[in-house]
Amino acid sequence: MELDKQSAEHQATILLVDDESINLSIFGQFLTPHYQVLVATNGERALQLAGSRPKPDLILLDVMMPGMDGYQVIGHLKADPNTLDIPVIFVTALSSDLEEERGLLLGAVDYIYKPCHLSILLARIKTQLELKNARDWLKDQNAYLETEVQRRYLENQAVHLQLLQSEKLAAIGQLAAGIAHEINNPIGFVNSNLNTLSGYLRDIFCVLDAWGAALNENPISIETQQNLRELKQTKQLDYLRGDIPELIAESREGLSRVRDIIQDLKDFAHVDKNDWELGDLHKGLDSTLNIISNELKYHCTVHRQYGEIPQISCILSQLNQVFMNLLINAAHAIETKGDIHIRTGCTEQEVWVEISDNGKGIAPENLSRLFEPFFTTKPVGKGTGLGLSISQNIVRKHGGRIEVASELGQGSRFRVWLPIQAPNLSSSE
Ligand SMILES: Nc1ncnc2c1ncn2[C@@H]1O[C@H](COP(=O)(O)OP(=O)(O)OP(=O)(O)O)[C@@H](O)[C@H]1O
Ligand SMILES: [Mg+2]
Repeated sequence: MELDKQSAEHQATILLVDDESINLSIFGQFLTPHYQVLVATNGERALQLAGSRPKPDLILLDVMMPGMDGYQVIGHLKADPNTLDIPVIFVTALSSDLEEERGLLLGAVDYIYKPCHLSILLARIKTQLELKNARDWLKDQNAYLETEVQRRYLENQAVHLQLLQSEKLAAIGQLAAGIAHEINNPIGFVNSNLNTLSGYLRDIFCVLDAWGAALNENPISIETQQNLRELKQTKQLDYLRGDIPELIAESREGLSRVRDIIQDLKDFAHVDKNDWELGDLHKGLDSTLNIISNELKYHCTVHRQYGEIPQISCILSQLNQVFMNLLINAAHAIETKGDIHIRTGCTEQEVWVEISDNGKGIAPENLSRLFEPFFTTKPVGKGTGLGLSISQNIVRKHGGRIEVASELGQGSRFRVWLPIQAPNLSSSE
């Protein structure tokens, strides 16, 4: 369709080259109603017209001419990039297969013997012009496609740069969300301890007020003494004496974890600082369990089955974050009541810490996605989906790995493997 339209719109130009003017006149008269016709009586003039405007769409070329013959003319035409693509039909009285072969080998598209039937000549010209149009069209399309490919390549590069930029922003957002996540837990339980402490203080002041009132009696009546004893019992002063220091110690630990995280942020800027230490993982597990006991104590029974393990070189505060994430995940997986087992052990080179639960388990299709940042099956507001991805980063930094096994409806087991000898890394990596 496109090709027909093109040929209809554009009247083709034919260059006739013949040293005999009678031939030029016959062909010229016959072709003029169909095409724009140019004529040349020798090779030199033919080359001149072929290289100027309007450029011929096809050349009818005589072979035998004085001076430059047809074969030489086609040689020049094919050597010049400007005229190379003009189709040439030889029209000659030289009737021999060898001559025809020679002409075709030199690049002619057709070979016609004189005298020829003019309507056949017209049909062959038409065919060659259509072929040329098709070639020209393909060439234009190729050129268009090449520029289009180039344009899209540049466009893609711009999009790629934009993506890199937004990935960077996402990474910063992820970092901030991660920090918020790690700070949120200790802040939560320090807050709840403060609430408990303020309740305790109310009780203590209530007892103190009663004592103050009693001191006004002289002597203190038996009944008041009995009341005071009962009040001391109701307010569980003996229990408070033990629990208050524990609450304060736990809150201190929580705050020091927040301080550690802030320290981590500072370390981020001070790349030369080294926080690696010989850490006792059992101590780390115990302190983490204390911190999150509020999350666990109502519906989980925690079983500690610690093996004999050496201290390992690590950043203990970070490993505590890993244990905290795994334990809280286990607690969340237990919907009503269940058990969490913490086991530890070692090989010659590595120690392992395993946290398993008999909660709802993980669907097989989710197993490979657990460590992706923001992957969560929890409702909005309950989970950010960062716990495991942060934990994996920490464990990898320690040269270790996390293994997972889970069965839907049965429970899950996360095993953290850590080398006893830390890799040669600094805390800032
Ligand atoms: N012990 C487990 N039992 C069942 N599913 C688990 C367990 N641990 C992790 N998962 C699944 O893995 C998902 C990702 O865990 P991850 O700790 O990374 O994020 P989260 O717990 O959803 O949110 P966040 O820890 O950021 O508050 C969870 O949403 C849950 O579907
Ligand atoms: Mg989690």
